[in-house]
Amino acid sequence: MLQMASRMGVLGTETAFEVLARANALAAQGRSIINLGIGQPDFPTPEHIVEAGRKALADGHHGYTPANGIPQLRAAVAADLWRRHKVEVSPDLVLVVPGGKVTMFFAIMMFGEPGTEILYPNPGFPIYESVIKFSGATPVPVPLYESKGFSFSADEVLEKITPRTRLLIINSPANPTGGVVPRAELDKLVAGLVRNPHVAVMSDEIYGEIVSDGAEHISLLTYPDLRDQLILLDGWSKTYAMTGWRMGYGVWPKAVFADAERLAINCHSCVNAATQYAGIAALEGPREPVLRMVKAFAERREVIVRELNKLPGVRCATPGGAFYAFPNIAGTGHTARSFQTQLLDQEGVATIAGTSFGAFGEDYIRFSYANSLAAITEAIGRIRRFLGNLPTRDAANG
Ligand SMILES: Cc1ncc(COP(=O)(O)O)c(C=O)c1O
Repeated sequence: MLQMASRMGVLGTETAFEVLARANALAAQGRSIINLGIGQPDFPTPEHIVEAGRKALADGHHGYTPANGIPQLRAAVAADLWRRHKVEVSPDLVLVVPGGKVTMFFAIMMFGEPGTEILYPNPGFPIYESVIKFSGATPVPVPLYESKGFSFSADEVLEKITPRTRLLIINSPANPTGGVVPRAELDKLVAGLVRNPHVAVMSDEIYGEIVSDGAEHISLLTYPDLRDQLILLDGWSKTYAMTGWRMGYGVWPKAVFADAERLAINCHSCVNAATQYAGIAALEGPREPVLRMVKAFAERREVIVRELNKLPGVRCATPGGAFYAFPNIAGTGHTARSFQTQLLDQEGVATIAGTSFGAFGEDYIRFSYANSLAAITEAIGRIRRFLGNLPTRDAANG
């Protein structure tokens, strides 16, 4: 019998991919499925970016690149960070990797080991908790509060720091809540973190360009005192509708950059060369396609939040960013899990139970509104019919 390492037993997964498989299986049986489950833009990658990738292949960019990414791409990342946040970042501290997830995996594996603690948002992106456990570190959840627009309380985060704390993970704008942490809370948090120089901070800002009118995304890069502790996670997947190209980047503290690069060399060598050229076109090309997508998300957000709030037993805060609504469904009599499963099986609407994002997600459902207005409207009608049937919480559990 094969003998796996025991850490394999604690590695989790991302339910979104399971729901996608179930939705696809139902669709293959001829059922009409509306997918509000998976978190990826429903737009194609803008044509000028696709063309740059195609040209790179035609021009013969078929070999390995430097492990940290081609110099022109790292310079473009630094220029983009200046454009967005007015901060100077050395291209030498930019590590281009195959997707946002890779920076996350590297950061957690670099700092986590048995006997240490890693703080992470809950409800939050499920891979944080999964990889923390895989590293052997103890996951310490930081609760996010609906009443605070799904922000954390900086005081509460700082109270959780101990001498064993190695890493704090922050995600704003957030998956699955759409929450954006306000400046005052970040100011307070950073003031406390610089008094704890043993704690690294990974700021997952992959949704940083997808914010609604009233919200402001503040990058942790804009706090100079934090730079020696900060790992910035960002990438192309969401902003440029490039989830399938597999590319992201991290900005690392100078002291550990070479270690992060060594992880890359051990793991994947470098990112696909043609994708890197497409990434340059994304950062240096016209902003108009991005603005168009962000505008479409804003229109959809307005419709989905308004319509969800009209449903019996459902209460939905307006998300400040990303493309997720995270309504409270406690009043429907369903658990999060029964809501997800029965809605998909009975009405063909794929969503994700809040509990897939951690224990504090009970009573919530994640709706990805990266889908057309027509699909969202049709889904709301189906949910209204589903809630009309009102199975009880007990029946759902039984
Ligand atoms: C919060 C968050 N971080 C990182 C990622 C990973 O992005 P990528 O597809 O670039 O690996 C996602 C993807 O859903 C996400 O929601």
